[in-house]
Amino acid sequence: MGEQRPGLNAFEEFAARYDAWYDAAPGRLLFALELACLRPLVPGGPGPRLEVGVGSGRFAAALGLEVGLDSAAVPLRLAAARGVDVVQGAGEQLPFGDGTFAGVVLVVTLCFAGDPAALLGEARRVLAPSGRLVTGIVPLDSAWGRRYEAQGRAGHPFYQGARLLTVAEHHRLLTDAGFIVTGANSTLTQAPSDDPVEEEAQNGVVSGAGFVALQAKVRPRA
Ligand SMILES: C[S@@+](CC[C@H](N)C(=O)[O-])C[C@H]1O[C@@H](n2cnc3c(N)ncnc32)[C@H](O)[C@@H]1O
Repeated sequence: MGEQRPGLNAFEEFAARYDAWYDAAPGRLLFALELACLRPLVPGGPGPRLEVGVGSGRFAAALGLEVGLDSAAVPLRLAAARGVDVVQGAGEQLPFGDGTFAGVVLVVTLCFAGDPAALLGEARRVLAPSGRLVTGIVPLDSAWGRRYEAQGRAGHPFYQGARLLTVAEHHRLLTDAGFIVTGANSTLTQAPSDDPVEEEAQNGVVSGAGFVALQAKVRPRA
């Protein structure tokens, strides 16, 4: 298992606060925009889909993902109440057999993982050969990412544990872990604010977007 990143147990301690963020502005609209960005990339099956770093299960429930894993126990109870089949564990050591899932989804989780490369290696292992990985990040090379990073430096309980990735680092992590990127969507091309407005998700990687989702397939071993 990878080393625990500083601030990671904030997800245990402040689980209710994290979850409540989705119910009021700006979280409610940001969630809807990010969901619309992710949804077209998430495979429908056949076969179960897994979210690693499922947290309180907001995205998993909305996307109909059957299984959610997280290292933190408290948010998992909220995910279970949303109908997700939950497992406590580390993304770097997934307790599932090879080729189990039609989809593996990671929403703002890679930046909190102690060992993102190991986590992606495990995602690759548990994906079926025809499966798809979907990863959503807040890029460091965006005004939204720089805002969260500054809040982390100022001691924000969640963001201080994050090591945000640039879009290029995100892409490279996936290809180094044995994936081929097959699709991308972007949203939050608006400037960061506490009063965001509706916008359509755009196909592809939009430079400067505050949320970028990649879809990838497993590269067959040579
Ligand atoms: C920012 S939250 C995202 C939760 C959920 N995906 C969402 O967007 O609401 C990141 C989650 O990843 C979990 N996490 C971080 N590193 C992990 C790891 N190595 N293995 C499993 N879960 C991890 C944290 O406990 C936390 O619940």
